[in-house]
Amino acid sequence: MFKLTPPLGWNTWNTFGEKINEQLILDAADEMVRFGLKDCGYEYIVIDDCWAMKERDENGKLVADPAKFPNGMKALSDAIHAKGLKFGMYSCAGTLTCAGYPASYDYEFIDAATFAEWGVDFLKYDYCFHTPLIKAKYLYRRMGAALANCGREILFSACSWGIDETQKWIKTTGASMWRSTTDIFDSWSFIKKLTAQQKELHPYNGVGCFNDMDMLVVGMGGRGNVGKESGCTFEEYRSHFSIWCMMGSPLMIGCDIRSMNEETGSILMNRDAIAIDQDPSCNQPYRITDCRYPDEDVLIYARLLTNGDYAIGVFNMGDAEHSADFLLDEIGLPISCGKTLLMRDVWSGKEEMPKNNTVSVRVKAHDCRLWRCKVV
Ligand code: GLA
Repeated sequence: MFKLTPPLGWNTWNTFGEKINEQLILDAADEMVRFGLKDCGYEYIVIDDCWAMKERDENGKLVADPAKFPNGMKALSDAIHAKGLKFGMYSCAGTLTCAGYPASYDYEFIDAATFAEWGVDFLKYDYCFHTPLIKAKYLYRRMGAALANCGREILFSACSWGIDETQKWIKTTGASMWRSTTDIFDSWSFIKKLTAQQKELHPYNGVGCFNDMDMLVVGMGGRGNVGKESGCTFEEYRSHFSIWCMMGSPLMIGCDIRSMNEETGSILMNRDAIAIDQDPSCNQPYRITDCRYPDEDVLIYARLLTNGDYAIGVFNMGDAEHSADFLLDEIGLPISCGKTLLMRDVWSGKEEMPKNNTVSVRVKAHDCRLWRCKVV
């Protein structure tokens, strides 16, 4: 399935792990609509690992666990579609999923047909328990072929964590997104680590197949399956979201949206940030001033947007307050062009302009600035 902008949705894994069931999914879907997330573009409700019985049926088909999903997956998918949302499920290229449930190795076509029967719109495809005898690219091509021939449009979301230089072959599989990082956990150190893992991968992100930096931990507050101690602060979650948007990652919410507070909503539903993520050109984000700030503490990124605007972000990944400045020359606006920027802060709404072609800011530890800028 060809996707023009990064997919947006919600996934069970970060908060619920194996503790999933039909009612939870339906409540999350209702909340997605009620809270306004759907209006902001979030559309996929994705059940991650742990939904199946440990054995296939006599025809080799996967079976949804009736204790968790008493009405079966087709009924659940119908209910989700009736709310105007799309339905996602999960399998794996190995013999078992990462949590030890049956997976799709050598059952690719049977499973793709089952997902089509159930009305699935999105398949996350993991990489645990895979045979060492067959390279990742062949295993992902198998499911890519099965999905492309299953009679239903199903978005293929590959999750091999960048192994075997995934970026070099993933577009041969028909995947619309691919995990370009290891797994996220709800702490600043993981946000910093995953951001750094993207460094060499930006050129591979673009229309049709997106670098997936993993599900968001915004709003988790240290609770749930990938929760860690106290989680992150508001500023850290805001930086996390800003980085994922600047880098054009799919945005899959991972917190418990049934109990989401206004603060979390203010991050996840910032339409200006989402518009940067969803910018139709999907131009490559690039780092500027990396010579001046060679370590990974101060990251300054820019991205040219469809209407000629720029997204610019200063991310202080370090543990101390930092000042940062950059010249507009680096984004293609030398003094000689007679142009400057009208910069609107995505988080405060305030407008500012550079002085002498230079933007100069101080940013607190783990905080960020993100602007949408007009060339004036
Ligand atoms: C892997 C994936 C995670 C999640 C779990 C489920 O670790 O990377 O995103 O799907 O498996 O077991």
